[in-house]
Amino acid sequence: MATSQDYRLGDFTFPRGWFMIATADEINTHKPLAVRFFGRDFALYRGRETGRVVLLDAYCPHMKTHLAAPNDTSYVIIDGGGTNIEGDSIRCPYHAWRFGPDGQCDDIPYHEGPIPKTACIKSWTVKESLGAIWVWHDPEGGEPEWDHPTLPEWDDKSWVQWKYDDLGMLQQHPQEVIDNICDYGHLSPIHGSTVLRYENEFSGHLATQRQCGPHRTLVNPDGESPVLHTLTTYHGPGVLISYLSGYYESILFITHTPVEDGSIRVWHALLVKSPGGNAEVTVEDGIAARQFQHSSRLAFEQDFEVWTNKAPCFNGMFLPSDGPFMKARIWYKQFYNPRERKAEFLDKCEGLYVPRGAEPYTQS
Ligand code: FES
Ligand SMILES: [Fe+2]
Repeated sequence: MATSQDYRLGDFTFPRGWFMIATADEINTHKPLAVRFFGRDFALYRGRETGRVVLLDAYCPHMKTHLAAPNDTSYVIIDGGGTNIEGDSIRCPYHAWRFGPDGQCDDIPYHEGPIPKTACIKSWTVKESLGAIWVWHDPEGGEPEWDHPTLPEWDDKSWVQWKYDDLGMLQQHPQEVIDNICDYGHLSPIHGSTVLRYENEFSGHLATQRQCGPHRTLVNPDGESPVLHTLTTYHGPGVLISYLSGYYESILFITHTPVEDGSIRVWHALLVKSPGGNAEVTVEDGIAARQFQHSSRLAFEQDFEVWTNKAPCFNGMFLPSDGPFMKARIWYKQFYNPRERKAEFLDKCEGLYVPRGAEPYTQS
């Protein structure tokens, strides 16, 4: 696997940002869930007392037992009714030490006297939003640099909420996926778009692509392709939101999270405004929305198929009529380096870019 170092991204192996780690459904159970991202193992669970989501490092500081690995034989689990979640805490199956949502050990059944302060596990900043669980990952351990993006349409009754497509693992470094935000030249051969206007803009933690044109993959049931406008933004390194208009008004959502250094897990989803134009979505709206999400998934899988088999691109042969790949790569580096160096990268990439020969989307 090609690593972050191979791409010369910076000091960190994994980037700073908000990342999806599970769908909300996956923890709507009484058991904890073992997950692995950023080259490390975690225990993820929903507290049974308040419903809050807790993400702890997986291994108990006592003797390194995995707190969320499947276990059916420990009496901690048997006596707990099939789970080791107690209230908002979790109890280790091995010697029954219990940890609160802050990761601090608060009970050792066989021990009298104070519990050592060092009996604690790292507890991560998590957020439940848009039907998923998100972690703030920061190699420097800082507070979130930006809010996790929200979508007012998610709670709007005239929009059909998505169900995530879990696209599984991609054995590519996320750099290859990020490149897509400025890949002007692939839109016609991969997606069948006739691009009429196109531009990219980089600003702070946002990388945006604006474009429009007819499209051969996203077509209506009659096979017609109206001019599709896409306004697509990476909110940090792991969350892509794209507003689509022209046929069904919808919001495309693609999110990826590093698993090891050089591999990612990917999810796709689509929020669709009532195709029937209803104030509250109907069953028919739901069916049409699922079909449209399927078409959108097919469009994304056109990229995915290439990524699955390509070699890593460390130094592309970029042309002026390509999109601004080098600017996008500089933008991406801000997340692999200390925050105090952020301006250094932004100074070299912020701005509006139009590939040679293309019509800008806006006239600004
Ligand atoms: S290993 Fe967790 S309590 Fe001993
Ligand atoms: Fe693409």
